[in-house]
Amino acid sequence: SKLASCLLSKLSEPQATALNKVTIVGCGDVGIACAVTLLTQRVTHNICLLDVDEAKVQGEISDLLHGSKFLEYPTIVGGRDVALSINSRLIIVTAGVRQKEGEPRLELAQRNADLMKAIIPDLVKFSPNAILLIVTNPVDVMTFVAWKISGLPRHKVIGSGTNLDSSRFRFLLSQKLGVSPKSVHGWIIGEHGDQSVAIWSGINVGSVNLKDINPDIGQNNDPEKFGKIHEQVVSAAYEVIKLKGYTNWAIGLSCSDIVKKIFSNSNAVLPLSVLAEGQQGIDVEVYLSLPCVVNASGVTHIVKTMLTVEEKGKLKKSAASIFKVQSELKL
Ligand code: 2OP
Repeated sequence: SKLASCLLSKLSEPQATALNKVTIVGCGDVGIACAVTLLTQRVTHNICLLDVDEAKVQGEISDLLHGSKFLEYPTIVGGRDVALSINSRLIIVTAGVRQKEGEPRLELAQRNADLMKAIIPDLVKFSPNAILLIVTNPVDVMTFVAWKISGLPRHKVIGSGTNLDSSRFRFLLSQKLGVSPKSVHGWIIGEHGDQSVAIWSGINVGSVNLKDINPDIGQNNDPEKFGKIHEQVVSAAYEVIKLKGYTNWAIGLSCSDIVKKIFSNSNAVLPLSVLAEGQQGIDVEVYLSLPCVVNASGVTHIVKTMLTVEEKGKLKKSAASIFKVQSELKL
């Protein structure tokens, strides 16, 4: 503007937008929770929101931009047109139907697979170098479907997986132990949700393995009934859905953490849904959560976790049930 040119003497052409563009597909409660946490945690200042409900997207964009003073003057664009996602560094897919009260995640598979078929090709066309972070449930099956359809290498297609289950696990353990969830190192792996697997032999606080104190921790004969904590993790989403109709804040925080660890090239180890074939005796092409190393190029390593025979058996059982759902999908 004329006033701006009186106000400012220009030295160089400003860059149109910040780098690290994140596209969020699906502007429902989960998608918006991802957007708010990414912006408030300064993980990115460049967001594209995609949804079929144009008015909803424009409303969310305006409402978020009105808070720019409390953010870092972010670029936030969006609408129905996938082309708006062009040159995204990472794409979070939250779109799809969600569980109704009491509905298992696996029941959503075909409907959400149809949606993946419809949106993944164009997303990859406009951002061929993007990392895909799938959140849509059943997330392990949807991440496999997205990987297959995208044609991207396996290390660039990741599911939020049991990063959320592990966060719930660590929160509940921290309540029992009186130690911050950041300092209770506990891992839930396998399927996100009903058939997740708690690695009881791997819970560590300040270098102490809890199993060394309570050898039966998490087992049926555990005098302190730690196993109840895993049961609470499995039922967590169902409880919250019964109370407020959906979950969004913990999954949003969990996704923002994953993106932060990728964008900062952290080499952090997170429990994420990755192509698990060839790991832990899994001989089918399924995505499951395993502790893996993430950095700027996606997932670069999978940790060779030492599992008990029972934990391995549970993981394989979960792989088999996911593979069965996958095999019945019409892709
Ligand atoms: C959750 O676990 C519903 O998968 C979602 O919160």
